[in-house]
Amino acid sequence: LHLEEKHLVPETKEINGILMTKMISDNWDKIWNFQAKPDDLLIATYAKAGTTWTQEIVDMIQNDGDVQKCQRANTFDRHPFIEWTLPPPLNSGLDLANKMPSPRTLKTHLPAQLLPPSFWEEHSKIIYVARNAKDCLVSYYHFSRMNKMVPDPGTWEEYIETFKEGKVLWGSWYDHVKGWWDAKDKHRILYLFYEDMKEDPKREIQKILKFLEKEISEEILNKILYHTSFDIMKQNPMANYTTLPTSIMDHSISPFMRKGMPGDWKNHFTVAQNEEFDKDYKKKMSGSTLTFRTEI
Ligand code: A3P
Repeated sequence: LHLEEKHLVPETKEINGILMTKMISDNWDKIWNFQAKPDDLLIATYAKAGTTWTQEIVDMIQNDGDVQKCQRANTFDRHPFIEWTLPPPLNSGLDLANKMPSPRTLKTHLPAQLLPPSFWEEHSKIIYVARNAKDCLVSYYHFSRMNKMVPDPGTWEEYIETFKEGKVLWGSWYDHVKGWWDAKDKHRILYLFYEDMKEDPKREIQKILKFLEKEISEEILNKILYHTSFDIMKQNPMANYTTLPTSIMDHSISPFMRKGMPGDWKNHFTVAQNEEFDKDYKKKMSGSTLTFRTEI
């Protein structure tokens, strides 16, 4: 991968009111017309909700717990990130997806209303992972500090407002989790929660196994649990994003595998910020049956 500084200017441009990188927006027709297949598996999340973790779990399941096979490539090359667009000759998500033999496992952060319609038409299976707003915000804040491909978050105080207004890449967290929550009643979607995965990873992996119609031995299940634990993934260069040059992701500012704990928001929000956030949250989430745990 050879990215130069000039590629890293994180220009943004909206698609239907949703903030995207300019490269994604400029390539939107191709992304919207992406051809999904019935045997595709899509891992869909709001940014920082536990995407990489879920990708590792799914890859381990698909490879029957073979750690070596799961280290064949970086997470981002094993599972094409369909909308992610880079300047040629770098591989964009669409290029990787179109080159990949089936059955494919793909990744997206798109809100449900912007998902290429072929996924719905082909009835591809989708795993959606949601994470509580406050921990997502904290994680996204630190990620935006260390990742030069996304806009600078500004100060913590500024970022809280930016996040609440949904003026971040892939738009409003509130609309994202609600949009996919509604979509799950009409489509083949397994809707999971980061907090549940943390509380009882075995139980949640079993849900994924059932959804994928796959059976494995207790021994392999335990192997998957171990290999996808936070501490082990943090040490895994094929999963922790450390193979990217520091000009793209600077882990000395904040590591990609940062804390991996529900409730870390308490170390960031002041009492006043928290009250303000909760008040706004109630308004934005009113009328939805979707609920979150902010600690376990
Ligand atoms: P924190 O910044 O709160 O630590 P994504 O993959 O969607 O970008 O999400 C990244 C977040 O998931 C980070 O959260 C990261 O530490 C956490 N994460 C990654 N692997 C994990 C694991 N195995 N267990 C728990 N959390 C994990």
